[in-house]
Amino acid sequence: MKKIIRIWDLPIRLFHWLLVICIIGSIISVNIGGNAMQWHGYFGYSIFTLVLFRIVWGLVGSTHARFANFIPSKTTLLNHLSGKSKAVLGHNPLGALSVLALILALLIQTITGLFSDDEIAFQGPLAKYLSEAAVSIFSEIHEANSGLIYGLIALHLAAIFYYQKIKGENLIKPMLVGDKEIDPSEEAKYSPTDLGQASKDGGLQRGLALFLLSVIAVVVGYLITSS
Ligand code: HEM
Ligand code: HEM
Repeated sequence: MKKIIRIWDLPIRLFHWLLVICIIGSIISVNIGGNAMQWHGYFGYSIFTLVLFRIVWGLVGSTHARFANFIPSKTTLLNHLSGKSKAVLGHNPLGALSVLALILALLIQTITGLFSDDEIAFQGPLAKYLSEAAVSIFSEIHEANSGLIYGLIALHLAAIFYYQKIKGENLIKPMLVGDKEIDPSEEAKYSPTDLGQASKDGGLQRGLALFLLSVIAVVVGYLITSS
């Protein structure tokens, strides 16, 4: 009988798919430009809120959401690269690095956005506190970093495609439903401790996540509207 293990709790899955929607929205709106820049801002604030939530959830969230459980040491990374290590349920060491890079790049993108100006009719809510020269530096970083984000997303999608087609492992289903199904014949690929570690995803965890997300949303909302 297959072992069914919860890997991605509901907060992580909602974070992921809402992030995808908001990024698509922010890219479409910035390409339309003009009045749609307002929407670029709204999507951007939502991404900022989601990323801050993800950082907090990486500290207090369930097993596989925690940075401490997936940030690799040099040895784990090298063992993974040389194919010596066991399979892992959550992010593998290389995947973990790409996840961290994405989160960091998104954080930089949203923070610089708050201080950017399109020199037409739209500026980030905090731009008015800086000199013109500083705003133009933030706008340039914002523009350059968007290229990095597109690159990381392309890499992310290529890695998922590679796992699906070449390694025959479907990573998308667990990100949709939360669970990984392990066939008895595959159990030996994993370490027994890893197999014993499911992510807690009950009412308590979900309630805590909703509370944290709400607090972060209120703080971000205050930062934007009070300036
Ligand atoms: C805007 C585009 C996207 C961004 C910015 C993005 C970002 C992320 C991030 C930050 C994570 C880490 C999850 C966490 O621990 O919080 C992740 C994981 C994941 N994403 Fe995406 N994602 C994008 C698009 C997609 C799409 C379109 C798919 C499906 C086709 C997808 C499938 C996955 C899967 C399967 C994982 C888990 C990988 C693993 O098992 O280690 N992502 N993504
Ligand atoms: C991850 C989230 C975001 C992405 C992917 C993103 C992406 C972009 C891109 C690609 C541009 C066009 C750069 C150019 O060609 O000039 C842009 C411009 C801009 N964005 Fe964002 N952005 C994000 C978040 C934000 C946030 C939170 C704000 C705050 C309101 C913001 C405000 C602006 C402004 C004011 C511009 C015009 C800057 C200029 O023309 O140099 N963005 N953004």
